[in-house]
Amino acid sequence: MRVGVLTGGGDCPGLNAVIRAVVRKGTQEYEYDFVGFRDGWRGPLEGDTVPLDIPAVRGILPRGGTILGSSRTNPFKQEEGVRRIRENLAKCEVDALVTIGGEDTLGVAARLSAEHGVPCVGVPKTIDNDLSATDYTFGFDTAVGVATEAIDRLHTTAESHMRVLVVEVMGRHAGWIALHSGLAGGANAILIPEQRFDIDQVCAWVESRFKVRYAPIVVVAEGAMPKDGQMVLKDDSTDSFGHVRLSGVGEWLAKEIERRTGKEARTTVLGHTQRGGTPSAFDRWLATRFGLHAIDAVRDGDFGTMVALRGTDIVRVPLAEATAKLKTVDPKLYSEAGVFFG
Ligand code: F6P
Repeated sequence: MRVGVLTGGGDCPGLNAVIRAVVRKGTQEYEYDFVGFRDGWRGPLEGDTVPLDIPAVRGILPRGGTILGSSRTNPFKQEEGVRRIRENLAKCEVDALVTIGGEDTLGVAARLSAEHGVPCVGVPKTIDNDLSATDYTFGFDTAVGVATEAIDRLHTTAESHMRVLVVEVMGRHAGWIALHSGLAGGANAILIPEQRFDIDQVCAWVESRFKVRYAPIVVVAEGAMPKDGQMVLKDDSTDSFGHVRLSGVGEWLAKEIERRTGKEARTTVLGHTQRGGTPSAFDRWLATRFGLHAIDAVRDGDFGTMVALRGTDIVRVPLAEATAKLKTVDPKLYSEAGVFFG
């Protein structure tokens, strides 16, 4: 049996831990051979491969990023994409494909599997933690750790200058990183994409914080938006790769808070620091277990499935279910955090 492995979409800490676990268990227990495909779906689309065996995965457990490279290439948007993938898989004598990715990469795996009989097993990843079929995705815990450490550091400089510090974290559609790091870091306001915020309310929280002689920290997810009528954000734009670029809600907030309250404000955009670097212990543990269970699914011929965390168990769910809808922050969880605002 020859197994192909690819990593697609935005990278995240823990991808290498999955690759290592898949290759180690597959080689040692099942005597499989492996081939790595470079840069997500671009690899099988163009037949771009890299050797993958136990020496190749030695030492990669704590390394961020992915030794296979990643891209957002979607074969369904390429001419003859499916045919080219099938041909290249046949050429490489690949019997099964382990696809490690988020909504887009796994969405492609789901369609290739259901509509074209390509034998795929999925492994969910995203720092955003917004895949509905799994309790947690790896990468999320590391991102929350990075954001929490940044908030801790920003508290002290905010206090020294009695300034407002706005921290913009990742999360286009879901506010999980903002909510978890905001709670862990003791933020005075947490703004998430699921609920439009009222800038008057944010300024009231900021002012009440200054009244007790503390400098406020506002954590905002990149996809958060002010409510209608308060919108002065630039339109989202699309870059030359076709990715939507958000318009800088953190910068806008700091300016607006300064204008309305007269208090000095600064913004820190954490951006890709949340995606880079070594995975946390939790993410290494989760990614490793996902890898071990994914290669078991290959052994069982259980294609069209994805491994998922439910409680402390790793289960298999249909790939189609995994990509059906985004997991957003429950309003109850969000309102629970409200007691710390202001
Ligand atoms: O989906 C993960 C994510 O990290 C989002 O939170 C963020 O908006 C996006 O990727 C950034 O993507 P890129 O690296 O393409 O700028």
